[in-house]
Amino acid sequence: MPETTPNLKSRSEAAHSAYEELGTRFEENDPREMYTYMYSKLRSDYTLMERVGMDGKSVLNVGCSFPIDEIYYARKIGHWTAIDLSPQSIEGAEQILRGELHPDLAAKFTFQVADACDLPFEDDTFDVAVSMSTIDHIPSREGRQKAVDEMARTTKPGGHVIITVPNWWNPPYALGIWKMTREKTLHYGYAHLFSPVEIRKMAERNGLRPAFFASSIAPLDDVWLPGYPAPIRWGAKLEFRVHRALGYLGRRVGYAFEKPMR
Ligand SMILES: C[S@@+](CC[C@H](N)C(=O)[O-])C[C@H]1O[C@@H](n2cnc3c(N)ncnc32)[C@H](O)[C@@H]1O
Repeated sequence: MPETTPNLKSRSEAAHSAYEELGTRFEENDPREMYTYMYSKLRSDYTLMERVGMDGKSVLNVGCSFPIDEIYYARKIGHWTAIDLSPQSIEGAEQILRGELHPDLAAKFTFQVADACDLPFEDDTFDVAVSMSTIDHIPSREGRQKAVDEMARTTKPGGHVIITVPNWWNPPYALGIWKMTREKTLHYGYAHLFSPVEIRKMAERNGLRPAFFASSIAPLDDVWLPGYPAPIRWGAKLEFRVHRALGYLGRRVGYAFEKPMR
């Protein structure tokens, strides 16, 4: 259905003011205390980051919000640039990170207010560009595609783009969001739900290649049981195939894409 301009404007304002408000309350709302959020993040976001490897890399995080990923990866990464559209979130995130980390680790980070759809960085700047649960808050289809294009543009050839999003193939979650949107009770203003196919196609338009898929509900790794009898190895493989299929129904899903060498 075509999206009309006034609708887009109000969605955009709703999402922006929700995140500006959240940015003033980071001290009271530490997401690390929410086990369901952490479970989902570890299974999807961190699984993908571990698969591509983060050691010594230059990283861009698009839509950082609370600096949970920054603090988690501080020891591993080379340099990390965190951007967010919300000035309050950037200020709050930087304050928390500098308060929690040793200055030598904190020095690896740059925080900047910026729009995912118009990144203020040169082409081929970062080894890895990540964006977790962020592009779903961009109200227009063109804007969401632009954000993916921008991540692809600013990633070096041979580098990775990691994107995770909420998944409408998870019916209870999709219904919950639909109900809250109708009742205007969605605490983050606006969210577009993707399918795993949609996010893959958006990246492929930029020539990115899917390298790994991950989901909040299933470990999608393969299993290897060398030395075990064949029926056990086959059974284990079958079980992981089932997990892989179920993963496409996860609430948060995403891919690590590779940007091919030119
Ligand atoms: C759900 S939070 C993401 C939190 C975190 N990345 C995570 O993994 O849980 C979404 C963030 O995206 C930011 N955001 C929304 N639209 C944006 C845009 N166009 N450019 C940059 N950041 C944006 C919001 O301000 C908010 O801080």
